[in-house]
Amino acid sequence: MHPRRKLPGAADPPAWLDELHLEPGPPWLAMGTRSLDDGLFVVDRDYERDVALKSVLLDERPAEVFAALDTAEVRAASEEILALTRAVTNRSSLHPLDAAGRSVQEDLCVLVLRDGVPHLDAASLCFPSYWRLADKIGRPLTEVHDPVPHYPEELAAKVNGFLSRLAPRRMVWRRNWSIHDVPTYFLPEATPTRDVDAPDGLYLRSERQVLRRLETTDAVLFTIRTQQVPLAAVAARADVAGRMAASIAGWSPELADYKGGHGALAAQDWLASIGEHFDARRT
Ligand code: HEM
Repeated sequence: MHPRRKLPGAADPPAWLDELHLEPGPPWLAMGTRSLDDGLFVVDRDYERDVALKSVLLDERPAEVFAALDTAEVRAASEEILALTRAVTNRSSLHPLDAAGRSVQEDLCVLVLRDGVPHLDAASLCFPSYWRLADKIGRPLTEVHDPVPHYPEELAAKVNGFLSRLAPRRMVWRRNWSIHDVPTYFLPEATPTRDVDAPDGLYLRSERQVLRRLETTDAVLFTIRTQQVPLAAVAARADVAGRMAASIAGWSPELADYKGGHGALAAQDWLASIGEHFDARRT
């Protein structure tokens, strides 16, 4: 099979498959940050769908998707972020971060350095992947990552150091990926595990994340752009499927516990079988 051939019924593989970090550990977690010159916000053909979904969530469930500490720093950072989105809003009653969030596909988080440590002090967050904003608002970033295995020893110091050194206007980006067994974008909590016949019923979800230090305050903007395709789309990229299977197979037991239960472990054999076609072509 040609590694890029499309299987009947499969969705097109997105270009971002080539941006995924798929190297097996250890180390189990990677900073994976790369410099970004342009492209803080990215608009694609899902724009109308995404902003409509956000608008419904922000109107109907505001306490779950928006939170902002009432501080001068958050207010100034939010005004600057609104200007960055170039949003034209006539809803002056909205918090500026809320107005900004409604005009872009990205979720927006504001990190404020307090005692030299980044804290999550505000966010417009409509597409969480198994976390609740209310649990994390106002917390130091290390605590925000509490459920993430290996974070304290492998990433906490690097992430905090990186954020305190980031120069104004400088941007970096990174990507994560996960496999979900529900297509829902607003996903604050785990849903009961379902029996699936991979790849059917499984989705590859990825967040393009950008970090940018603001200018008017010392705060940092963290954007999360959630993108998702049916896992079947990976069938057209046997090379990626094979590396993804190897990556999952290489997870520590703690990571498999944390990341595996929503479909990744169920997908592993299917991904490996697709990957074998790629290996066969190369030998
Ligand atoms: C360079 C900066 C950062 C790195 C390297 C990083 C790394 C990670 C990693 C490895 C995970 C585990 C899930 C996965 O594999 O993707 C994770 C989860 C998470 N990250 Fe980050 N992160 C960074 C910045 C941030 C920031 C600024 C926020 C602020 C909102 C954040 C919020 C979270 C949350 C909420 C989770 C899920 C935690 C949970 O399961 O409750 N991260 N991050």
